[in-house]
Amino acid sequence: MKGIILAGGSGTRLRPLTGALSKHLLPVYDKPMVYYPLSVLMLAGIRDVLVISSRSHTELYQEILGDGGRLGIRIAYAEQEEPRGIADALVIGADFVGDDPVALILGDNIFHGPGFSALLRDSRRHLDGCALFGYPVRDPRRYGVATVDATGRLLSIEEKPRAPRSNLAVTGLYFYSNDVLGIAKNLGPSARGELEITDVNLSYLAQGRARLTELGRGFAWLDMGTHDSLLQAGQYVQLLERRQGEWIACVEEIALRMGFIDADACHRLGREMAASDYGRYVMEVAARGAASPAASPAAAPAD
Ligand code: DAU
Repeated sequence: MKGIILAGGSGTRLRPLTGALSKHLLPVYDKPMVYYPLSVLMLAGIRDVLVISSRSHTELYQEILGDGGRLGIRIAYAEQEEPRGIADALVIGADFVGDDPVALILGDNIFHGPGFSALLRDSRRHLDGCALFGYPVRDPRRYGVATVDATGRLLSIEEKPRAPRSNLAVTGLYFYSNDVLGIAKNLGPSARGELEITDVNLSYLAQGRARLTELGRGFAWLDMGTHDSLLQAGQYVQLLERRQGEWIACVEEIALRMGFIDADACHRLGREMAASDYGRYVMEVAARGAASPAASPAAAPAD
């Protein structure tokens, strides 16, 4: 399975923060925003990742993430000239995806909660069509909104409805079979002129090949489109990291646990950042990993 992070767009709702900076490189407490979606793809066992950003920002992503080799993965880059819609990522990324299934994640989404790695693995294993993830929110009008029946079967999806039929938002993580490339290629723009990801999902719904898993209580799904939500996300990460001493979306730790890199390589990455708590945490994790490699919870089907 290939992975795509969509990190383009103009970030207008975050101005002036995004005047010269890419939204998805802004700090979410102790790390750039893009680490969070990258960590989700890595936890799903994905080692081939395409980062799509606007032309003026591509070099910045390359500087931060490189070719991914340091994390034992491969990262490629592509440009989206203007924000033509989320499904445009599947047009831009078609050659990169090739004949594989694909996971698409929005660059401004954070997922965190118990059992998430197992859920990702499970969704990958049973993928036929599309796998979506739903999350109850107070203001569903800002999102794609799904309805499900009593057995959890997906019944409908609407993009930003004025009168939502449920409070279940469709989150920005989508798993697709390879035929999504054909669906995206033939998609026409919506009334607001975008290639809507909801139209892709509706196409699978019409074929009876769309599944939605609800992320329940105790799970955190955050998107960071506004100043308030950006700050809240940072505070959430700070609170959990400080309280538990376990870092969220530490990509070096995930690379180690997934078996993408060994403890020595992980330690070296931490040492380069030893002046920060983050770097010291990476070194600690590496030392623990070297002492008890069997304790590693890496059980995902890495490819
Ligand atoms: O966050 C989940 C929601 O994301 C879903 O519930 C909606 O169905 C989906 O349409 C999307 O809605 P948003 O209003 O949040 O999409 P937004 O335009 O804010 O874009 C989300 C991220 O994707 C943002 O970080 C910018 C990036 N993006 C977006 C577009 C349209 C791009 O990189 N390129 C684009 O063309």
